[in-house]
Amino acid sequence: MATAPYRETLPASWFCDPEHYRREVQAIWQRDWICVGRAEDWPQSGDFQRLRIGDQQIVVTRAEDGALHAWHNTCRHRGSVLCESDSGRFEQGRVVCPYHAWTYALSGELLRAPRSTQRDGLRLEDFPLYRVALASWRGFVFVNLAEAPAISFEAFLAGEADRVAAWPLEDLRRVHRARQRLACNWKIFWENYLECYHCPGVHPELVRLVPVYRTGFMEYADAGLQEDPARPGAMLRPGAVTWSTDGGTELPWFAGLGTADAERGMTFVTLPPTMFLVAHVDYVRTVRVLPLGPEETELTVDWYVHRDVLDHPALNVEQLTAFASQVVSEDARACELNQSGIRCGRHRGGVLLEVEDYVFDFEQWVRGRVEHGGR
Ligand code: FES
Ligand SMILES: [Fe+2]
Repeated sequence: MATAPYRETLPASWFCDPEHYRREVQAIWQRDWICVGRAEDWPQSGDFQRLRIGDQQIVVTRAEDGALHAWHNTCRHRGSVLCESDSGRFEQGRVVCPYHAWTYALSGELLRAPRSTQRDGLRLEDFPLYRVALASWRGFVFVNLAEAPAISFEAFLAGEADRVAAWPLEDLRRVHRARQRLACNWKIFWENYLECYHCPGVHPELVRLVPVYRTGFMEYADAGLQEDPARPGAMLRPGAVTWSTDGGTELPWFAGLGTADAERGMTFVTLPPTMFLVAHVDYVRTVRVLPLGPEETELTVDWYVHRDVLDHPALNVEQLTAFASQVVSEDARACELNQSGIRCGRHRGGVLLEVEDYVFDFEQWVRGRVEHGGR
């Protein structure tokens, strides 16, 4: 079979077909580490959050000893859901099934099965809730739905977490959240994130702040350009220090950043499929992705500052969020345009240019997962 002289994208059907979507949910979303929030989202014991990953419902809660636990929202008796709301607090540290009142500890052990007798042969210890693997990275909480996760949490973070070693991620506190539903497949969002070919046309302000983006590439080396020798590693235009409307900030900078971290002006941590993080000298932003359907994706954008800055007189949330909000809304529009054209009966797939190398890598990763279950 002749191969095309150019690089082809994934088949267009992979971006809208419900059958294929189910395969990806199983091969990727129910096998990989998924960010579910920050430790401070569960301030007290008994606090819970429910989330859906594909057709699976998970509950994350904090037990009396302070540890976070995740389990499937399904009773071990006859399978009723346990939690009927998206968030709340379990009273008296107990999870009581709304159907026949089987009662569990927050950590998942079955404590009571009303009216069961010896004749039932039931040993409570054999019926804990279906546990879900949970891990934390510097305040961010992740779950993995695989019964025995094939991808270790360390391998998942490898090569990315170190980029923000100097940032005090544990001490961040959220100052703003923007959540929206995008009418696009989850991969469309990632592919848009992974190239800057669209930047000159879609993000006029951003390319003024980050000059290399004008080339369509994201790094000077990829664009075949020399960095400014007076400011090696600097990504922002001279005089700019952060992603803001004028490139400046009146907030104090994070203590402990090295010269290179500060000079760069923007540091990305990319953890597909679930999130990416952007660290600046004064704030950190995360973008979480969650598929809701073949052509629908939930986007959660959170802005964080150091907890000591929460009362700072210069903290103006509107100012802090304006620039990136604009970029996100430009990207959201591009993603939805992309999705709405991809159903064309004649369009079986597209083409990837050199400037879209990272999209190609991402598609190879998706393909590997779907076809071979590989990393
Ligand atoms: S299904 Fe939960 S107690 Fe019966
Ligand atoms: Fe963009």
